[in-house]
Amino acid sequence: MNPDRSRNTDWLSRSLDVVWHPCTQMKHHEQLPLVPIARGEGMWLHDFDGNRYLDAISSWWVNLFGHANPRINGAVADQLGKLEHVILAGFTHEPVVRLSERLRELTGLSHCFYGSDGASATEIALKMSYHYWRNRGQGTKTGFVSLRNGYHGETLGALSVTDVPLFRDTYAALLSRTHQLPSPDWRLGEPGETPEQVAVRAAAALEDYLQGHHATTAALILEPLVQGAGGMAMYHPRYLREARSLCDRFSVHLIADEIAVGFGRTGTFLACEQAGIRPDFLCLSKGLTGGYLALSAVLTTDDVYAAFYDDDTARGFLHSHSYTGNALACSAALAVLDIFEQDGVLAANRGKAAEMNRRCAVLREHRAVRHFRNTGMIWAFEVDDPDPLFARRFYERALGRELLLRPLGHTVYFMPPYVIEPEQMDHLVQGTLAVLDDMQRGR
Ligand SMILES: Cc1ncc(COP(=O)(O)O)c(C=O)c1O
Repeated sequence: MNPDRSRNTDWLSRSLDVVWHPCTQMKHHEQLPLVPIARGEGMWLHDFDGNRYLDAISSWWVNLFGHANPRINGAVADQLGKLEHVILAGFTHEPVVRLSERLRELTGLSHCFYGSDGASATEIALKMSYHYWRNRGQGTKTGFVSLRNGYHGETLGALSVTDVPLFRDTYAALLSRTHQLPSPDWRLGEPGETPEQVAVRAAAALEDYLQGHHATTAALILEPLVQGAGGMAMYHPRYLREARSLCDRFSVHLIADEIAVGFGRTGTFLACEQAGIRPDFLCLSKGLTGGYLALSAVLTTDDVYAAFYDDDTARGFLHSHSYTGNALACSAALAVLDIFEQDGVLAANRGKAAEMNRRCAVLREHRAVRHFRNTGMIWAFEVDDPDPLFARRFYERALGRELLLRPLGHTVYFMPPYVIEPEQMDHLVQGTLAVLDDMQRGR
């Protein structure tokens, strides 16, 4: 290594040489910095040159209890000495059994099927729903409905029910045909309309659609309470209650994609709890392992499980991923659930959210800020700025203020790990304010 080059520069150029980074136009890295991270600790990411960045987006919404969390580290290290992985077809192991039992307790859904990333959970839920109807003699139910602006992952099945043009349009020719219905996003309200009224109006559109198409519709898939990647759109729980009862009335499955919003993100352990409903399929990932290892789970009911239970092999759910139910990932997930239980995380988060909201008053009142909103441990707002490259400029300036923030278009959001402390909240809010002011002044 050339001793004159900083170690950041070295890793940066080696990475750009060989790593094709996700969700990235690689040419942009001719201008945008790539940040090599040497280590993480709690809320902070440290590079090789002694700089640090507050991880205000939980590293793509996965991290709950900080980087290098000693309790999760300990659980994974302990498991590493016993069993790293075993094929889950024909075999089982202690962490996957314990995790499934605990998820059943927490969700009220009795059977747990595992995948790896979030998108694989979406694929599993869609295939299981279709296959359920087929096994029940209703093979015409092949269609899926989702919400406008919804996001469920980027493999072809998941992308087919995703409605984010930037990710979807290029691949449109490869996708299955699905139908998108009005989102209950409260920002779409007519003047004078409350969030609940927006939800009721969107539910009426769902009712109209199902009235005409229930015979050919297998499932409705949605992100409960917050549509994340589509721009942190938030909505009233009434929509979920209406959707549940319409799905029951028209014999259509409800798939709750809680990949981003589960594990306390919206204030309750599951977002669906705020509507008092239970879905037919529940997709979990991201926070499931506290941001440690790729693991996803689809939980479902006795009724669905029974529809596959048969002497005929082909009526079974013949779907698999090599790392399904990985023992290390399950041990991380068990440690995450222990932390929830032992530390009273949901109650503590209510206090943290209130503290954060007090600090955010300066942002809420900022002249460039629109639609400031908060659900649980998610905060978001739009910035009035004509620059189409706003997101990139903001991201870069935020790095300059020791902040990892990745706006979605003109939407700036905070989704910090739950271990955020008051001084880090100050750092986040004051840093964001400074970036906004700099950008307004054109600096
Ligand atoms: C709601 C939702 N569903 C599915 C996914 C896909 O998860 P993954 O990126 O792990 O495939 C995401 C990822 O952001 C998500 O937010």
